Amino acid sequence: MVNRRSVIGAAVLGGGVVAIGGMAAREFAGGQGTSSARATSGGSLLVPKLYSGERENGIRVFDLNLQRGVSQFFKGIDTPTIGINQSYLGPTLEMRAGETVRMNVSSDLSETATVHWHGFHLPARADGGPHQPIAPGSTWSPSFEVKQRASMFWYHSHAHRRSGPQVYKGLAGAIYVRDDETERLDLPNDYGVDDIPLIVQDRAFNRDGSFAYSTSMHNVMMGMTGDTLLVNGIVDPVFEARSDLLRLRLLNGSNARFYRFGFGDARAFMQIGSDGGLFEQPYRTDNIVLAPGERAQIVVDLSDGRPTSLSADSLETMGMMGGGMGNRGMRDRGDRMGGDMGTNGGRRGGMMDERRRFTVLNIRPAAQRRQVNIIPSQLIALAPIEPETAIKTRRFVLQMGMNMMRGGGFTINGKSMDMQRIDETVKVNTTEIWQIENASMMAHPFHIHDVQFRVLDRDGRQPSPQDTGLKDTVVVAPREVVRVLLRFEDYTDPELPYMYHCHILEHEDAAMMGQFLVKA
Ligand code: C2O
Ligand code: CU
Ligand code: CU
Repeated sequence: MVNRRSVIGAAVLGGGVVAIGGMAAREFAGGQGTSSARATSGGSLLVPKLYSGERENGIRVFDLNLQRGVSQFFKGIDTPTIGINQSYLGPTLEMRAGETVRMNVSSDLSETATVHWHGFHLPARADGGPHQPIAPGSTWSPSFEVKQRASMFWYHSHAHRRSGPQVYKGLAGAIYVRDDETERLDLPNDYGVDDIPLIVQDRAFNRDGSFAYSTSMHNVMMGMTGDTLLVNGIVDPVFEARSDLLRLRLLNGSNARFYRFGFGDARAFMQIGSDGGLFEQPYRTDNIVLAPGERAQIVVDLSDGRPTSLSADSLETMGMMGGGMGNRGMRDRGDRMGGDMGTNGGRRGGMMDERRRFTVLNIRPAAQRRQVNIIPSQLIALAPIEPETAIKTRRFVLQMGMNMMRGGGFTINGKSMDMQRIDETVKVNTTEIWQIENASMMAHPFHIHDVQFRVLDRDGRQPSPQDTGLKDTVVVAPREVVRVLLRFEDYTDPELPYMYHCHILEHEDAAMMGQFLVKA
């Protein structure tokens, strides 16, 4: 099974974009797909079940059980997995802004886990980080008000030094927050029909079918990657589209891999939102880069009736090290992070030796489709970005330390995560600038709990349009300095901190994480 993927990967790298478009089209037409591709591809996309909980006394209650299971990603081959209310991943939790929710999270696992609500603004005690462990056999029941704007968020393990292996095995799921403002917009909004979450995760397998997760020095340094792409837990899924406009919500739920998403036929699409909500206006592009933890919402037009495929090129994250990448790696990153993101996308894919192209989704427009409607040109209003309201600037320096060669050593401001140590204390009801400086040779997705922030600049330059929405995770390229603006609205706690960390989960587990308090 692993081989099949490499065979396809190699063929596509040689042939470039046209080849993959053509290959997909032939398969859909029932022609000569390669037999190796036919062995496992063609499964229908699985859309996670939508779970809206139950209303009890005005509160929306979700019952979530962490459980062990067995999944078949390849026919006839069992893979031991972890899921929430099912064997792999969990249902999509649906909730509305303004509601109060309670999560009853019980665990049948044999090790301590946690469930973190990634992207949520909530009290530290409800955050689900390493300070809220769920022991085997116990139940954790946090309750909080949904203060988010409508967007797709996600939940996943944040267990102390165990996030990587637990997420890899399946402890993750999507969250849809709804609100009136976005539902008034004329956007595809029918879950599972024209509004689809895509949880993108690369995985490596052992011969016996089990996940090949390992914390070798290489995997700790580079993060754990795999050669097979799972999309909502399915390999090479096919989706039959019943509408001309299809809204896809992408979540890079991988442990470490960065992707550039685009269509096999290079068609343009609209990006309508990022991590924490919709943009003010749709942004027309032909590619999107997402690091682990990041999300994007896109709308693609299928009114030409042609089959297409969404693909993901793996991006090199090292800057100056590694197999002669040198300047080429840096230059590519410059393109990616600088303003000009829309020009070429995956077309250069075959140039990079470390690169790999995955098929995310084969899309086959049905003969009978809901007619196209036009995407509104105005989406939602965002608060203006006003750096002058910040009362201070805090610096965060990301480094690879001296003990890197012993399988660790990623630090923030020279420190490794210590659950007993508070690294930063912010005052409630204030605005700050966080200046994140990457002094290492690798790109890191920097994630901050509790807030949705705005990107101010990268190396002093204006962020690209894809960076201007609400963010909770931001990529910082090697040697780059990124400034973000954050406002700490409420929820003080004298003792319990929130986290900030690299969202490459092996780096997080290797202690590339710090803690901050929000104080009265
Ligand atoms: Cu998605 Cu602190 O994590
Ligand atoms: Cu988070
Ligand atoms: Cu990192």
